Amino acid sequence: MEKTYLERIKETASFIKEAVGELPRIGIILGTGLGDLVNHINIKYELSYQNIPNFPISTVEGHSGKLIFGNLGGKYVVAMQGRFHFYEGYDMKQVTFPVRVMKELGVDTLFVSNAAGGMNKEFKVGDVMVITDHINLFPENPLRGKNYEDLGPRFPAMTEAYSQALIDMADDIAREDGIRLMHGVYVGTQGPTFETPAEYEYFRVIGGDAVGMSTVPEVIVANHAGMRVFGVSVITDLGGKDIKEVPTHEEVQKAAIKAQPVMTKIIKDMLGRL
Ligand code: HPA
Repeated sequence: MEKTYLERIKETASFIKEAVGELPRIGIILGTGLGDLVNHINIKYELSYQNIPNFPISTVEGHSGKLIFGNLGGKYVVAMQGRFHFYEGYDMKQVTFPVRVMKELGVDTLFVSNAAGGMNKEFKVGDVMVITDHINLFPENPLRGKNYEDLGPRFPAMTEAYSQALIDMADDIAREDGIRLMHGVYVGTQGPTFETPAEYEYFRVIGGDAVGMSTVPEVIVANHAGMRVFGVSVITDLGGKDIKEVPTHEEVQKAAIKAQPVMTKIIKDMLGRL
């Protein structure tokens, strides 16, 4: 008989437990062009997605597809280098499967990063934005379908989807180090198109500061699982009716790579304070 979602989560977690021994309580998901954080990890184990049972395989350019275990900022962490995007064709259960597995391994705090387009007129390319909240515009919620009470409640609250305590910690670090750190609401869309000028304007009107094609599904599942979440966007392009520049994947990657030292510093310092 085909295995249930729950059985697959447990099977994958058992495989990983056996492979790596020591288990992390902190998980990190790295976005497009933001993989450099991995170079700061004192790596103990690496598992390619293709060698992990039940794991989807990452395809998009700029992602290499590995689960990395090691020490960062004095804490033992698991980091996903490369995530699964809905626009690649994965379904929502696949997109969020690694978060389920992390939870099963004992992860209770999740750091997520992404590249995003800025609508807030104060933002500049290269800014780092702490995600204070999100607006889910994906066509499907990852919790649609049978709810496993073992994983979380049928109707989870999303009132503090991003931990205020972790936001405050990031602000403290930014203040102490003189880092320009923006705050904002992340709008999650399915992509793969970038927005029309009218769409960027619309997302601004409904309360968004930045828009991207990831993060929201993983954050919903992490909240369902009772994890606390810290999210950060690197602003890689700007959108709106007055913006003439055309965003491309290459520009997004370039801008993310340039801005990532700031993001890396904040996450590393936060880990040191947890
Ligand atoms: N829109 C959507 N996703 C993105 C953008 C954008 O402008 N920039 C980076 N990811």
